[in-house]
Amino acid sequence: MEDANLLTEVVVTVAVCDRSQYGSRMVSQFGLSLLVDCSWENGFATRILFDTGWDGEVLLRNLADLRVPVDSIDKVVLSHAHYDHTGGLEGLIRAEGARFQLIAHPDITRRVFSGGSELKFVGLDTETLSLLPSRHLVLIREAVEIAPFVWTTGTIPRWSEFEEPEEDVYVLTDEGRLVPDPELDDMALVLRVGADRLVVLTGCSHAGIVNTIDRATEVGGSNRIGGVVGGFHLLDKELEVQRKTVETLSQFSIESVCSGHCTGWRAEDMFQEVFGEAFSRLYTGDRFVFRGTKDE
Ligand SMILES: [Fe+2]
Ligand SMILES: [Fe+2]
Repeated sequence: MEDANLLTEVVVTVAVCDRSQYGSRMVSQFGLSLLVDCSWENGFATRILFDTGWDGEVLLRNLADLRVPVDSIDKVVLSHAHYDHTGGLEGLIRAEGARFQLIAHPDITRRVFSGGSELKFVGLDTETLSLLPSRHLVLIREAVEIAPFVWTTGTIPRWSEFEEPEEDVYVLTDEGRLVPDPELDDMALVLRVGADRLVVLTGCSHAGIVNTIDRATEVGGSNRIGGVVGGFHLLDKELEVQRKTVETLSQFSIESVCSGHCTGWRAEDMFQEVFGEAFSRLYTGDRFVFRGTKDE
């Protein structure tokens, strides 16, 4: 790795999530979008948007508030199909100056529904992807390095014993049948900062946050995690699952956990108790900085 051009700084800014800090003028809405500014040792820099929130207007307004022109976004990565992560995409594609490359899992275009007696379509309108020039669209199932030391996890293996597939989520097959949705499109973004510190960004962690971090360490080639930022989808999980999740994560080498969106207040409280100052709740506009050198 001697001649590698190290990733030396990653700044994650919450472009949209479900709640705002006191006094913030930014707009919050159910969903998630994280802006990721990466800088390398040789001066190269790139800007990635991880998820787009629910609504393009909200996303564009907040990006303007952050003084982030749409033409400065090089890549957009989608964590999974759900509307609260992909709904802002159409507005972003149609915005003046949009020129980004889109990276997602090929299953992102499947027809997904959620609910009990009343099913609701919760996926991505496939027409949206057709608005992009095809050379700007990368649909890939495997992990892929989208910039030096920046990878998507691809499909996340489900190893954890207590992280069960979600209930009440369905996919419409080509034969017109509704079957349980395994949500295999769910993936995370992994960045290796400096020598060996990983930053893991998650959308909803439908694959399970423990599985996600396991996969991230495999893809990023390190067990040292500088930060995990995003949604953990624990809000509707049983207390026991929430407890096991927090306990398991406390055994990983994790320096900071920044979570919100679908994590839920109860699980957030548990993280707060176990991780102390290393835990923070996500708010729209929050900024997390991760730095590293070749020695650390
Ligand atoms: Fe979500
Ligand atoms: Fe989701």
